Amino acid sequence: MSAIAGRIDNLRSKFEELGVDAMLVTDDENRRYLSGFVGTAGYLFITQDSAVLATDSRYTEQAGNQAPDYRVDRITGRLDWLPALLAEFGVKRLGFEADNVTVQLLDRFKVATTEVENGAVELDLVPTTGVPLGLRAFKDSDELALLQRSIDIADHAFAEVAKTIVVGDTEDEIAWRIEVAVREQGAESLSFPTIVGSGPNAALPHHRAGDRKIQEGESIVIDMGARYQGYCSDLTRTVVVGEQEDQFKKVYDTVLAAQLTAIESVEAGMTGADADNLARAVIVEAGYGDEFGHSLGHGVGLEVHEAPWVASRVGTKLEDGMTFTIEPGIYISGWGGVRIEDVVVLENGKARVLSHAPKIEI
Ligand code: GLY
Ligand code: MN
Ligand code: MN
Repeated sequence: MSAIAGRIDNLRSKFEELGVDAMLVTDDENRRYLSGFVGTAGYLFITQDSAVLATDSRYTEQAGNQAPDYRVDRITGRLDWLPALLAEFGVKRLGFEADNVTVQLLDRFKVATTEVENGAVELDLVPTTGVPLGLRAFKDSDELALLQRSIDIADHAFAEVAKTIVVGDTEDEIAWRIEVAVREQGAESLSFPTIVGSGPNAALPHHRAGDRKIQEGESIVIDMGARYQGYCSDLTRTVVVGEQEDQFKKVYDTVLAAQLTAIESVEAGMTGADADNLARAVIVEAGYGDEFGHSLGHGVGLEVHEAPWVASRVGTKLEDGMTFTIEPGIYISGWGGVRIEDVVVLENGKARVLSHAPKIEI
């Protein structure tokens, strides 16, 4: 069985619990995950024993090549093709992705539904949330290999560029050198716009690189990632040019201790909240609890932020096969900040670190 056929079967195994006899998949990354088709328009229509990829003339040939597990239907217009498909497969309860469908698209679903109902076929539209996303939280071996490649690219690009940073470089110049290095290593793109926050800008967790010049001794937070065959890496390192200040050493040490504690102690069966607390307890104990405002981490794969969520108040359990970031940070307004981020996979109940970019040691 192909990896894709296995993913389709996993989705079908949820149908009974969802109370549907077919799913219409509209989200770009879910469509790619469940079919292999990387085009940016199209619908997957999946029943217990059939799989149809409906797309327009721009993509039908590509879809035929990339999605051999599907019958490819060429469609035009809006959803005028849907009633015939529903009738062909006798679908009575159609699941759709409520977390992706716009109000406008839902209205169009309703028009299509009405058309089927007027033809005397009863149809219920069943909203579902997080179903393919839940499957995507677990990476198969093909996915792990692609994710590892995207991580390796970011690791190498960081190591290469970190060596070149000097006082007087702007954040933008560093970000550009990272972008060039990531592309030269074979990435199709960045996985998100690179964050380079220096000095007080490092206190803004998602500062975008700008024209500020690097000064000696201040913290520089670099958060970057590569996209390789769809898979995204996400890496943060904090560096300093020249002598480190005492405050930097204390903050850095605390963040590193929090990160290493979480990596060593996180286990399958813990909730996202349990995992978040492993690092948070270290930071609170050091007196910086209010300066760690974001969550510990998030899943990473076809999207840079996806399930599982590793955050306080998340009761969902972490399980073997899941990949996620561990990225504590401390941010002190007007001074700067430190964040350190790695991607891990849970295997045999424990975390295996996939990122290997160097970290400064104090
Ligand atoms: N790059 C944003 C994050 O680390 O989640
Ligand atoms: Mn990041
Ligand atoms: Mn992240």
